[in-house]
Amino acid sequence: MKVFEKNGHKIILGEAIGALESFKDGSVDLIFADPPYNIGKKFVDLTDKWESDDSYLNWCYKWLNLCIKKLKGTGTMYVMTATQNMPHFDLFLRDKLTILSRIVWFYDSSSVQARKYFGSLYEPILHCVKNDKDYTFNVNDILVQARTGAVRKLIDYRKPVPTVYNSKKVPGNVWHIPRVRYRMDEYESHPTQKPIALLERIVKASSNEGDLVVDPFSGTFTTSYVAKQLKRKSIGIEISEEYVKIGLRRLQIATEFNGEPLRRERKTYEPQEDENQTALSLFEKKAKWNTSSRKRSRVS
Ligand SMILES: C[S@@+](CC[C@H](N)C(=O)[O-])C[C@H]1O[C@@H](n2cnc3c(N)ncnc32)[C@H](O)[C@@H]1O
Repeated sequence: MKVFEKNGHKIILGEAIGALESFKDGSVDLIFADPPYNIGKKFVDLTDKWESDDSYLNWCYKWLNLCIKKLKGTGTMYVMTATQNMPHFDLFLRDKLTILSRIVWFYDSSSVQARKYFGSLYEPILHCVKNDKDYTFNVNDILVQARTGAVRKLIDYRKPVPTVYNSKKVPGNVWHIPRVRYRMDEYESHPTQKPIALLERIVKASSNEGDLVVDPFSGTFTTSYVAKQLKRKSIGIEISEEYVKIGLRRLQIATEFNGEPLRRERKTYEPQEDENQTALSLFEKKAKWNTSSRKRSRVS
């Protein structure tokens, strides 16, 4: 296990269960857990496929129990997994926590090509708290525009003085947030990167400035990145060195790793640095040539 830390943000290169065991019990305000889903995705260092559903679920129950132990009494946990595993998570967690919402993260996808069944366009998220009488929910920080379908503002005539209806509302449990695409600024090279907008809603709603936010399966460290922007503290755990390097760069904890400079991968449509240099020199040559030919024509 290797630990990197700067200004209240910690990255642990290691295995989630071992790392979580080292935390103080009852010390975490918010956990966002987005584990491998057991659906055969290819992460850099492992294939996300267990021998059987039972072995996957038994592994999940271990880290879920640890997360519960490490949460404060007022803490909140959001958990994701594949749709087919979620019923097991739900049954397991509802005995130990209060499940406040069963969220559907819904997205459009050009890559879903199912022709013999209805392709999957959502992922489920459980929103759970330890104490349903005492937990953080910053409703005013996550309001969204109410879509009524009406062009004109709706007026409530039942009030003593007719009043325009409040056009802001608390989001429901179906969240339409686009997936991270290659051309988006936030894109990193990872097969299951979660969008900043998704984590913003979660971190804003369920934590306060200065709170500790933990992500046991950090991937591209979206959770820690958002926690930093929102002035929370963070701990992100990740087993793969390749992804930890993304986290170190995104959180500005380091600029190099074992002597290797940490740079964002160049996108295929972005010019190479030397291409930029060539374009610049050509431009400079052309500008010089234009100036000297103007001088020559003045002399003649
Ligand atoms: C679904 S992805 C998380 C993506 C992340 N939420 C993001 O926004 O990029 C799961 C991550 O867990 C990591 N992982 C798998 N097994 C792990 C383990 N036992 N301990 C820590 N990390 C693990 C994988 O390398 C992968 O990056």
